[in-house]
Amino acid sequence: MRKKLKRFAENANRENIIEPGKPFFENAKGKWNEIFFKNDHPITVELGCGDGEYSVGLAENQKDRNYIGVDLKGDRLHQGSTYAIENGLDNVAFLRTQILNLENFFDQGEIDEFWLTFPDPRPRKRDIKRRLSSVRYLELYRKLAKPNAWFRFKTDNTPLFEFTLEVLNQEFPVIDLEYTFDLYQSDMVDDHFGIKTKYEGIWTEKGEQIKYLKFRFN
Ligand SMILES: C[S@@+](CC[C@H](N)C(=O)[O-])C[C@H]1O[C@@H](n2cnc3c(N)ncnc32)[C@H](O)[C@@H]1O
Repeated sequence: MRKKLKRFAENANRENIIEPGKPFFENAKGKWNEIFFKNDHPITVELGCGDGEYSVGLAENQKDRNYIGVDLKGDRLHQGSTYAIENGLDNVAFLRTQILNLENFFDQGEIDEFWLTFPDPRPRKRDIKRRLSSVRYLELYRKLAKPNAWFRFKTDNTPLFEFTLEVLNQEFPVIDLEYTFDLYQSDMVDDHFGIKTKYEGIWTEKGEQIKYLKFRFN
């Protein structure tokens, strides 16, 4: 608990953590490039980034893009934020919010790419609407996506992956959909730059194959 409180206190003084109480938290919508990153590079948002190692890994790999990791949990975001500070990465930021509120932080068409990485599977039927790849979330992402933006999703969880494919095939038409049930053995493997998230590491060690899909919004 003490460690968490220390992290929260540090977060409050960090520029790369956007959270309640900070001026940019109230004014971010439509302003990420102009005010925060101070360039016009494309923006990738990682949904449910946890410790943020994927956002910082991508940011390190692609300096000509901007990355924003979104999560509810400040103590997790602290990890990615620390790595970014220690490694001088100024093309990555962390936004502490509920994903359903993303519209408060991004304008229509402001986001060039989404990564959804290992979201909670929420297996119970009554939680279908809370799955981050359910229709109401996809509709929200589409609103904020630039025309032709890519949406990329990786998971260890086969039922969640199959559920998502079903949604895309039956309820939420998209274009250029491609997928694999075994990312590391597929010719799509380069899409993830060889960077594993924390959960990806845990599940691959247990022998799970990583499922991956990508599409463009219609
Ligand atoms: C299973 S973890 C995966 C973390 C990371 N992407 C990884 O692969 O290691 C899911 C993360 O999503 C976050 N999360 C779940 N639902 C969320 C929501 N509605 N809004 C924001 N973050 C959410 C959780 O706090 C958690 O950090």
